[in-house]
Amino acid sequence: MKSNAAAIAACFSALVAATPAAASLDLAKAKGCTACHDVAKKVVGPAYSEVAKKYKAAAGGQATMTTSILKGSTGKWGPIPMPPNKVTEEEAKKLAAWISTL
Ligand code: HEC
Repeated sequence: MKSNAAAIAACFSALVAATPAAASLDLAKAKGCTACHDVAKKVVGPAYSEVAKKYKAAAGGQATMTTSILKGSTGKWGPIPMPPNKVTEEEAKKLAAWISTL
């Protein structure tokens, strides 16, 4: 019985930990980001895992991503530019924070 309770507790905390990431993937889908981006592989835009690698340790990395998400980005990853996205500043910040966790 005791170990069952521990297993349930472990499951529950895993679920809680997974929720914010899932919520942000849903936001990325809802905002059309996933038409051009995948977490693990390059599509039209770079893989979010690559973007995370570049910015998560960089000073101001999340701010750079937030600006790019809001205003678009050109010439950093290849010849294809990213147009400005239809997101609020709050949503852009949330997406940048999420990408940093990938
Ligand atoms: C029309 C296709 C397209 C859509 C839609 C799109 N992106 Fe991009 N994204 C790109 C391309 C292409 C690049 C690479 C731009 C470059 O080389 O500077 C990019 C780059 C990025 C970068 C890196 C920017 C940098 O400063 O290095 C981030 C972060 C990003 N996208 C997030 C998002 C998010 C979040 C969304 C949804 C709100 C989104 N993208 C929607 C195509 C897209």
